[in-house]
Amino acid sequence: MTTATRFENPADGLRIQDARLGYDGRIVSDGLNFSVREGEFTAIIGPNGCGKSTLLKALARTLKPLAGKVIVDGVDVRTLRPKAVARRIAALPQHPVAPESLRVRDLVARGRHPYHSLLRQWHPGDAEIVDAAMAATGVADYADRLLTELSGGQRQRVWIAMVLAQQTDYVLLDEPTSFLDLAHQVELLHLCQDMRADGRTVVAVLHDINQAARYASHLVVMHDGEIVREGAPGDVLDAEVVADVFGIDGIIERDSQSGAPMITVRDRRVPS
Ligand SMILES: Nc1ncnc2c1ncn2[C@@H]1O[C@H](COP(=O)(O)OP(=O)(O)OP(=O)(O)O)[C@@H](O)[C@H]1O
Ligand SMILES: [Mg+2]
Repeated sequence: MTTATRFENPADGLRIQDARLGYDGRIVSDGLNFSVREGEFTAIIGPNGCGKSTLLKALARTLKPLAGKVIVDGVDVRTLRPKAVARRIAALPQHPVAPESLRVRDLVARGRHPYHSLLRQWHPGDAEIVDAAMAATGVADYADRLLTELSGGQRQRVWIAMVLAQQTDYVLLDEPTSFLDLAHQVELLHLCQDMRADGRTVVAVLHDINQAARYASHLVVMHDGEIVREGAPGDVLDAEVVADVFGIDGIIERDSQSGAPMITVRDRRVPS
């Protein structure tokens, strides 16, 4: 299916409808509606504990809504088999856990599992896809090393390679830049832009507001379980939202290189 035809059909897409999201006895979001923007690189920003990961987990089918539903291609995601969902949506959680004594190549190869069956465990072309994913994230040199022998940032890039190898239309990343040094953060953000250019839809939770504003094409601001603003970064970010949502006394300037909005912090707290 080409990108153009996929975006033309209103039944297609990934969205949350009238959802109550939370955990045992704790409701994080209620009456939540959110449509993932097709073909965009969306960054979700918001303070700790506001519900960003909860939203992403619901989209990825790993958290069952307490009410309402998550819809992909016109059907409730809970009615689909996990493998079918995994061919449409790849998700990197905030704290992924790998089995002990796994080698880098084997973890990246897990990205191909949704395409396998009991009878068919490996397809021609899988090895090339895995190699390409490792090359794109700069982990090919560690292909045969144990995950436990890698640094936090190296391991993070292996997880991202696994997500790439999954070759899905939707890519959901929860704080993918955590643990990465600045050069690798920038590379990862470019990789998100490249995925978008390839026709994929990317949603990433980011904590660095300036990076989010510079690299994402669409910005979503969450606060207390609600989406309080969304739109183009230049339309969404202003001193008011920075004060109301993050409690920061800041001014919005323009990045001299890209022209993207950029927060300069004046003080840690909004004056009362
Ligand atoms: N497994 C869980 N069981 C119970 N409560 C949870 C669980 N996970 C998260 N919460 C609570 O749900 C709320 C939203 O958490 P969530 O992880 O979505 O926040 P977040 O916006 O991703 O924060 P952060 O920026 O710190 O990652 C928080 O109050 C948190 O304590
Ligand atoms: Mg989180």
